[in-house]
This record gives sequence, structure tokens and C-alpha cells, in this order.
Amino acid sequence: MEKKATLTLPDGKKHEFPVLSGSVGPEVIDIRALYGQSGMFTYDPGFMSTASCNSTITYIDGDKGILLYRGYPIEQLAVHCDFLEVCFLLLYGELPAQKEKDEFVGMVTRHTMLHEQMLDFYSGFRRDAHPMATMVGVVGALSAFYHDSLDINDPRHREVAAFRLIAKMPTIAALAYKYNLGQPFMYPRNDLSYAANFLRMMFGTPCEEYQVNDVLVRALDRIFILHADHEQNASTSTVRLSGSSGANPFACIAAGIACLWGPAHGGANEACLQMLEQIGDVSKVGEFIKQVKDKNSHVRLMGFGHRVYKNYDPRAKLMRETCHEVLGELGLANDRLFALAIALEKIALEDDYFVERKLYPNVDFYSGIVQRAIGIPTSMFTSIFALARTVGWIAQWKEMIVDPDQKIGRPRQLYQGKTQRDVVPIGKRG
Ligand code: CMC
Repeated sequence: MEKKATLTLPDGKKHEFPVLSGSVGPEVIDIRALYGQSGMFTYDPGFMSTASCNSTITYIDGDKGILLYRGYPIEQLAVHCDFLEVCFLLLYGELPAQKEKDEFVGMVTRHTMLHEQMLDFYSGFRRDAHPMATMVGVVGALSAFYHDSLDINDPRHREVAAFRLIAKMPTIAALAYKYNLGQPFMYPRNDLSYAANFLRMMFGTPCEEYQVNDVLVRALDRIFILHADHEQNASTSTVRLSGSSGANPFACIAAGIACLWGPAHGGANEACLQMLEQIGDVSKVGEFIKQVKDKNSHVRLMGFGHRVYKNYDPRAKLMRETCHEVLGELGLANDRLFALAIALEKIALEDDYFVERKLYPNVDFYSGIVQRAIGIPTSMFTSIFALARTVGWIAQWKEMIVDPDQKIGRPRQLYQGKTQRDVVPIGKRG
């Protein structure tokens, strides 16, 4: 029998709404008919209790610390798959067989170059531009160059846009960095893996051959896997909302990048490393934690807490492991900031303030240390997050386009402003 929820309104009238079940996770009350039936809206700033869409891509159980892509636990994907296999999984719903993987990798690697004229865009930016500022601009500008993938109603266009975005994002990000440095742009090399090619475009120069380090490649590939999707987070919801108006995929992903930039979202790994630098030494941890607990200080322990995880973020565990591997490989096992992070984590996990609020380390707590050890500057951290999240954004965008329930996103409001009044001529205004 169909489940129903009954809502009694202040006028005493009762309204029934269907209760929908997913394959796993909380049931939802379908309130689409509420306004039509009662003339009332629901109020839910920050979407604390609102499911905004149907999805079959990613599932999170925040209380248990579970993250699944298409049903597969992140811990298994991080160990058994590479990033492009995970991209295939997110886009098509299944892990690829070898032949499918070869075809997919071939397709992605053949779209890695940017239109040559796009390289001119970079010189329009100041040399000290934040790479995310450059990326918002350049990714949005893809729509000015690739007209054969702008028709959102054509499945082939959507497919090609997905390949282009996944393939070109490492090139776009690496060029933003090279431009900051004033070094020559490095063209992609398609015989390298996705992560190795990115490292070469970041750190290689035309003067000598770049030596690929497999441990660093694996670490970066894992960072990409862990950041590939995270259901309806702020930037993904931004991509969906932008796409709901029929905007082209490049414009939608540029909007996602803009949202990701904020320190409460993708900017947290950059902010976390800056926080560790500021604390400077293990002896200062106690004093810093005191500040965090003082509401008036507005200081937060960056890399801690999550809207959905009320347990250890499974990605943070994997990142911690990678951190050990990379620091060991590079002879940095006694790294000052890593020691500081471990001390901070230990104290926070035992402190009542964090325990009561269920604040645990999130993925950003360790990913900054790994990236810094690889030689990636802090200012590039969020760009790397954007690069990795692009597949999630595009998979969610594609899912939305074909969803029969999809409508333009148009929330309503609780209006608290002035009621209607008349304009007074300027000479009579007090
Ligand atoms: N440090 C200190 N206190 C915190 C923190 C923190 N990092 N996070 C939450 N709190 C406190 C907050 O002050 C509040 O306390 P009280 O109930 O006494 O007012 C309580 O915990 C609930 O916090 P909230 O801000 O209502 O929770 P939220 O779900 O809106 O915020 C968050 C989630 C991620 C924005 C927040 O935890 C935060 O700002 N963390 C630091 C930034 C960070 O690491 N962000 C990365 C998120 S993971 C990567 C991603 O998905 O983008």
C-alpha cells in the first residue's frame, strides 16, 4: 500500500502527501502538491531537510561514515580502480570492462588539448590571479569555442561535452599555474596516465624530460577519486540549478567552480593548510583549540565538520593513509605540518566540544598536506578539487537533463520586507 504522511495545518485542515522510498536511506515526503492544496510553502534554508532531486549516482550515510559511488564503497574504488575507471562508473553506472576502459581512455585523452586561441585568454589575466578565478573564466569560455557540444537536447552533444570537460580540465588548471609562474605552457602528452599527464603539465618544462614518480601519481589519482562526486553538495546543486534553466554544460560547470571556491566548501583544504601554517607548532595547539571553542572568535577548525558526515569522513581515512605513503616516499616522514595535523586531530577527537557536535576530520584535513608534499602550491588546491569534481558535476547534470521530473529550479521565500506602499516625490522624503 502507498505510504502517506498527513499534515495538519493551523486551519485544522488535513493534507495527505505520498511518502517515497529510495533504494536505501531516509524516506522523503513528496510535498510538491503542498502549495497548490494549501497555499503554504515549506521553509528550509540550507536545504537541511530537503531532497532536491532523484539520483542514482552517489549515496552517503553520514552517521555511519559510508560513501558509495553507484553502490561501490569508496574504500574499494580507491584501492582497485583508477580515476578514469571511476569517471566511467559515475557517467555510465557500471565499472568498465577492459575494452570499454580502453575506448574511454582513448576518447578522453584525445580531447586534452585546448583550442589554440584559448591560450590567449590567459594573458588577459593578471599574473597573480588566483587559479580559480582563471578557471571560472576559461571554463565558461569553452562554450565560445565548442559549438558542436552545446545542444543540451542532443545526447551526442552531451556526451562530447562530458569528454571535453573531463579531458581539458587538467590542461586548464595546469595552464593557470604556469601562467602564475611565467613559465611556458606545457601541452598534454597522451601516452601518460590522467594524473601523470597533469603532474607533467604542472611541473615539467620544455628544457628537460619530466620524471614521473609512480607514488605521487597514485596519490594524486586517489585525490581525484576521493573528490569525484559527493551527491547534492553546494557546487553540484549549483550545477544542477544552472542547468535547470537549459544553460549549456560549460556555463553550468563554470558556475559549479565558482561555488566550489568558497572556504566552507572546496576552499577548505587551502584554508586548512593556512591554518596549520598559522598555528606553526604543536605547542600552540591548545591555545588554538581554545580560540575555536570561543564563539566570538569566529575561528573554525578547518578540515573538521561536515553537513552530512557525523562520523569520520571515509575519504579522510584514505587520505591519511596516502599522506603517510607520500611523506615516506619523499623522506618527509617528520614533516612539521603533518605532526601538527596529527596532534590537532587527536586533541579534537577527545575534546567535548567536537565530540558533542560530532565534528570529525573531513577529506580536506589531510589532502592539503599531501598536495603540499607533492609540490603543489596552496593556491592550486581548490583547482585540483574542481578538476576532480568535474566528472561528478557532469554526471549529475546529464542525469538531471533526462529526468522526467526535472523542472527549472525556482525556490520560494518567506518575505519579511515592507508591504505595498506608495512612492513619495523626492522633495517630500524625510
Ligand atoms: N570548527 C569549530 N566548530 C565547528 C566547525 C569547525 N570546523 N564546524 C561546525 N562547528 C560547530 C558550529 O559552530 C556549530 O556549533 P553550535 O551548535 O554551538 O552553534 C555546530 O558545530 C554545527 O555547525 P554548523 O555550521 O551549523 O554545521 P553545518 O552543517 O552548517 O556546517 C561545515 C558544515 C562543513 C560548513 C562546517 O563544519 C565548517 O565550516 N567546517 C570547516 C570548513 C571545512 O572543513 N569545510 C570542508 C567540508 S568537506 C569538503 C567539501 O565537501 O566541500
